[in-house]
Amino acid sequence: MIVKSAEFICSNTQVSKLPPPEKPEYAFIGRSNVGKSSLINMLTAKKGLAKTSQTPGKTQLINHFLINDDWFLVDLPGYGYARISKSKKEDWNKFIRFYLDKRESLQCVMVLIDSRLEPQKIDLEFCNWLGEHGLPFVIIFTKADKQSGLKTDQNVAQFKSKLTETFDPMPDYFVTSAENKLGRDEVLNFIDGVNAR
Ligand code: GTP
Ligand code: MG
Repeated sequence: MIVKSAEFICSNTQVSKLPPPEKPEYAFIGRSNVGKSSLINMLTAKKGLAKTSQTPGKTQLINHFLINDDWFLVDLPGYGYARISKSKKEDWNKFIRFYLDKRESLQCVMVLIDSRLEPQKIDLEFCNWLGEHGLPFVIIFTKADKQSGLKTDQNVAQFKSKLTETFDPMPDYFVTSAENKLGRDEVLNFIDGVNAR
């Protein structure tokens, strides 16, 4: 797929104020700082489109980006950021899970996992929640440029083995780097394929 245009549409905390659910959309989710916003910029080849930061907790709202006038990429706030209050965490849970559960135009949840880490409980629990709610998802391993290919392969294999305890077959997965564009064609082709269904 060629990304001809990528345009910021709106930021929201309320599902009732989102754009009408008339175009397919793909939501990027994962722990704070995993690289959701950076991946959106890499996929669209627009550097400042989604706001990124070294400090976790940058993205706070549901952000819609319209691609090729045809479908949406959605940047979401991260989960698992230790330094936010309990009530903020509960707010996150409520509004993000409500969005994921109710958004009828959501085609697939893109779950981002840091390829440098061994399987994390919070990520596995989130995948299980998606499974329990019947929400289709794929895994996107991020930041592969930060360590050797061997280390990435090991962490990917471990995560897969954990996920196959619950999921059969294992959901599709992609290994990416926002830094060197690894995985860009694969992720865009996947979305293209779902849009064509
Ligand atoms: P929140 O919005 O806070 O949940 O974070 P996020 O998941 O959107 O992460 P963001 O894209 O803001 O990136 C966090 C940090 O990781 C930034 O400093 C990015 O430059 C860096 N980063 C993201 N992706 C990559 C990558 O593929 N490679 C490298 N080397 N750094 C990355
Ligand atoms: Mg972000």
